[in-house]
Amino acid sequence: MRWSEACERNREPILTVLRRWLPQDARVLEIGSGSGQHAVAFSRSLAGVHWQASEHPDAVGPLAERLRSEGPLPEALPLDVRMRHHWPLHAYEAVFSANTCHILPREGVSDLLALAATVLRPGGLLLLYGPFHDAGVHTAASNAAFDTHLCSLDPSMGVRDALELKAEALALGLTTAAEEAMPANNRMLIFQRNENPEA
Ligand SMILES: C[S@@+](CC[C@H](N)C(=O)[O-])C[C@H]1O[C@@H](n2cnc3c(N)ncnc32)[C@H](O)[C@@H]1O
Repeated sequence: MRWSEACERNREPILTVLRRWLPQDARVLEIGSGSGQHAVAFSRSLAGVHWQASEHPDAVGPLAERLRSEGPLPEALPLDVRMRHHWPLHAYEAVFSANTCHILPREGVSDLLALAATVLRPGGLLLLYGPFHDAGVHTAASNAAFDTHLCSLDPSMGVRDALELKAEALALGLTTAAEEAMPANNRMLIFQRNENPEA
């Protein structure tokens, strides 16, 4: 099974933000759940919240294994954000994704925003955790170095521009509701789907 030390470190700070923002009985769709450590921890800690973990079909096996072994938890959903026909038909009160924006190609991040705009109920929340910069200005030298490292591995990866994402989200009916500074120079970008998408 996959294991992430980072998940162990960032779990509690993320949980603190989720507790503040998620409605008690929210149905949450997680994108790119990876090892499933977040899904397990958040399902256990957030009573009443229904946490639907998902992963790219190529990587869903280990996630499904963890959810089964640590369950009872909802079955892992195979979901490639790049494939519109994979997008769920259910409505959610929140979409959460950690450390995916710098892994997905830039167009994949647009797909993630469009997916959220499609599956979120009016008033629903999109929470994106990870490193971001503002028009090229990094919040820390370590994030700039991480960006360079990612691009050297694969030019389609890289730390994304929060200002650009906020503008793109707004055009999709997702208004920036808040932004929280997180440990290790990460951030939580929080968007809210407009109550009236036509407004
Ligand atoms: C850095 S990992 C983060 C995993 C987990 N969220 C965490 O915080 O540890 C990025 C994840 O994005 C997933 N991913 C990559 N491309 C994807 C796609 N097109 N659709 C859905 N997930 C994708 C990968 O399989 C991987 O698990």
